Amino acid sequence: MPAPRIKSPQRLLAESGADREGHGLKRTMGLFQLVCFGVGAIVGTGIFVGLSDSVAQAGPAVVVSFVLAAITCVLTAFAFAELGGAIPVSGSSYSFAYAGLGESTAFLVGWCLLLEYGVSVSAVAVGWSQYVNELLHSLTGWQLPAVLSAGPGDGGVVNLPAVIVIALAAVLLVRGVRESARATAAMAILKLVILVAFCAIGFTAFKHGNLTPFSPAGLGGIGAGTTAAFFSYIGFDAITTAGEEAKNPRRDIPLAILVCIGVVTLLYCAVALAAIGAIGGGQVGDRPAALSYVVNVVTGSSAGGAVIAFGAVVAIASVVLAVMYGQTRILLSMSRDGLVPRVFEKVSPKTSTPVAGTLVVAVVFALPAAFASLDAVVNLCTIGTLATMAVVNVAVIALRRRQPDLARSFRVPLYPVVPLLGVVCCLYLMYETGWSTWLQFAGFLAAGALVYVLYGRRHSRLAAGAEVTPDPAAQELQAV
Ligand code: ALA
Repeated sequence: MPAPRIKSPQRLLAESGADREGHGLKRTMGLFQLVCFGVGAIVGTGIFVGLSDSVAQAGPAVVVSFVLAAITCVLTAFAFAELGGAIPVSGSSYSFAYAGLGESTAFLVGWCLLLEYGVSVSAVAVGWSQYVNELLHSLTGWQLPAVLSAGPGDGGVVNLPAVIVIALAAVLLVRGVRESARATAAMAILKLVILVAFCAIGFTAFKHGNLTPFSPAGLGGIGAGTTAAFFSYIGFDAITTAGEEAKNPRRDIPLAILVCIGVVTLLYCAVALAAIGAIGGGQVGDRPAALSYVVNVVTGSSAGGAVIAFGAVVAIASVVLAVMYGQTRILLSMSRDGLVPRVFEKVSPKTSTPVAGTLVVAVVFALPAAFASLDAVVNLCTIGTLATMAVVNVAVIALRRRQPDLARSFRVPLYPVVPLLGVVCCLYLMYETGWSTWLQFAGFLAAGALVYVLYGRRHSRLAAGAEVTPDPAAQELQAV
């Protein structure tokens, strides 16, 4: 069996130019912006739309589900933090797998990231469209007809708002990361404020009795609720894709990941308790736009629900923006390695952003957004994300063995127990997604393996023995 094609962390750093000034992407993001970027990528469809699904499974014990999903994320966040601090380049789990486990695994991880980032952009844009209509309806009494606001699976023809939000995100991303980071920070703060306001309103009507029975479906319900709740945490690893644009990546990236998960978990538990405490789990479960409904019931007016719908529109738009940003940076790394076409690594001299790659991503993911339904893709997105997280935990172990002396600004505590536990938790939640999701996932992986054998393996720069070049195209462009 041939030895795996491993790319050393030193080479990854040298090629990205991440440790130098004047490399292709600009270093503009501090800790605060990274945290906002993380919150921007995390808080969206999962809490505004998906909460009702998790409550339907777990009842009031959904708070336990949120904590269990958070524990899975924190265990893996330690792994992301160690690798993101040691190898601050754009590719996130893809680059970590390249350094820890070799090229073919890295390619499949990059392929799975298409599910996490690309497919979730489409799914999240579809969720956005529902809330745009909800907002239009509560403000004007009118809404877009189904033919223009839903795909064929949902009784429409084309989902125009979903396409529009992806196009708007592409425009912002093309204009430059500074503008995108500012927009993301503003949207992240606004959605935090709206969710805190929701909690304040919900808790005014809190009744202890609404929390009993606490776990109507027992442990099975909590397990299923955890897998459903996990979707609302997807995106925390997007922070590591900003490795080449962070001012102090070795310190700030690990910190930003942990701060984000902590803040978001507290918020999700508070939102769930406020919603269920106010009107009961039976009323929240499986209800569309559940948060707007809770506020309407508690305040006795539809104005509050409109504010929440506005918050959802902003929150979900910022997820689209942050996740699309992450996708373009991962493709940039894969393109640099020759595993996908070079169009994704071209950085514009004018904006210092990968303009062509961003436009290709926007067009490709606008298509499923226009025609798919949310439910069809959420589970696939979840299993793909969990698979990449399991690989990242394994990559920490592999890299510790291969390069024990590599400079690490953060080290996973209680090694190797924590990364091993991380793998077990990811596998358990993957198991909970059900066999039909597993079948789809297996088909997706098989397609990825084919693309790697037919394209990636043949064009790999590492295999061709290409020199360690510090991204000369981007450097030149930067110098213009
Ligand atoms: N965590 C992201 C959301 O909830 C995917 O929208």
